[in-house]
Amino acid sequence: MRSAIVTTRTKHFLRRLSAFLLLFIIPLSLLSSCSKKEEPPADSSDDEAVADLCETSEAEFADGANNSALSEEADSTVGEDKAVLEIDENLNSEPEEDSNLQVEIGSGDAVSPKPANPDVVPPSLNENGEITEVTDNWLLLVNKTHPLSESYEPTDLIVVQHQVGSHAAIMRYMRQEAAEHLDAMCEAAAEEGHEIGIRTAYRPYSYQKGIFNDYANRYGEEEANRFSARPGQSEHQTGLCADVTSPSVDYKLTTEYGKAPEGIWLAENAHRFGFIIRYPLGKEDITGYQYEPWHVRYVGEEAAAKIYEQGITLEEYLGILD
Ligand code: DAL
Ligand code: ZN
Repeated sequence: MRSAIVTTRTKHFLRRLSAFLLLFIIPLSLLSSCSKKEEPPADSSDDEAVADLCETSEAEFADGANNSALSEEADSTVGEDKAVLEIDENLNSEPEEDSNLQVEIGSGDAVSPKPANPDVVPPSLNENGEITEVTDNWLLLVNKTHPLSESYEPTDLIVVQHQVGSHAAIMRYMRQEAAEHLDAMCEAAAEEGHEIGIRTAYRPYSYQKGIFNDYANRYGEEEANRFSARPGQSEHQTGLCADVTSPSVDYKLTTEYGKAPEGIWLAENAHRFGFIIRYPLGKEDITGYQYEPWHVRYVGEEAAAKIYEQGITLEEYLGILD
């Protein structure tokens, strides 16, 4: 009898416990894990979430190229990062104008500031202070204060042979000299056992606009602009840079690449092929962007060797720090 009462009480207790768990604990823990996913990336240059998102969006832009062949190739999607795939879906159409976003371009000056480096020829600017003329000045500075005009489009884009992962057809191109040097670099890396290839290279103004707007909507303009350039302010529009990656980081664009064998090889050898790591660690106050061990910029062998040996940024090499 006594044991029957104990059993009944135990059953009551267990029922109440399960009801409590169902009503309070489980929903609360689910809520907390969901809200974590929505948080903006942490304010850290080592935050992989930001880095993984950065520049991995893939979309098809038929109107951005000056060569119709650029948009004819089929695109495919790989990668398991849900956030990346979500962005891909969002960007699978023409980016929409976002009237809330103020694109800061141009200072109104028609004269480019005189660089401290006497070898550098300043580009001519239009009335909005934007660079319009495509030249073979491989030292062209493009950043938050030195923008390109919307119409800036290189005419000598060719396909880079060493591709990894997947990306929209439009992003497989670089200016001819840069593309040839990038392929030579990837071949040299392969001979030493490192697979390196591009995920994204040239991006027209309209494409950059879609990417930046998407990040700004997710993280706010200020945070987004620490890892993604506003349209006109991205050197991807020059056709002189590329985001590269490798198997040891699952072909992602992540700060971990700086410690991966291929990323280490890249940092130590890119200058031999005329490339620099454009956004080095600890130089955010100069470049305006977080550490990106995957973003290489073609500047020519001579400048690249000097920039590498001195451990400086393009801004410092040119003496343009405004
Ligand atoms: N991630 C670099 C800064 C760009 O968007 O051009
Ligand atoms: Zn990049």
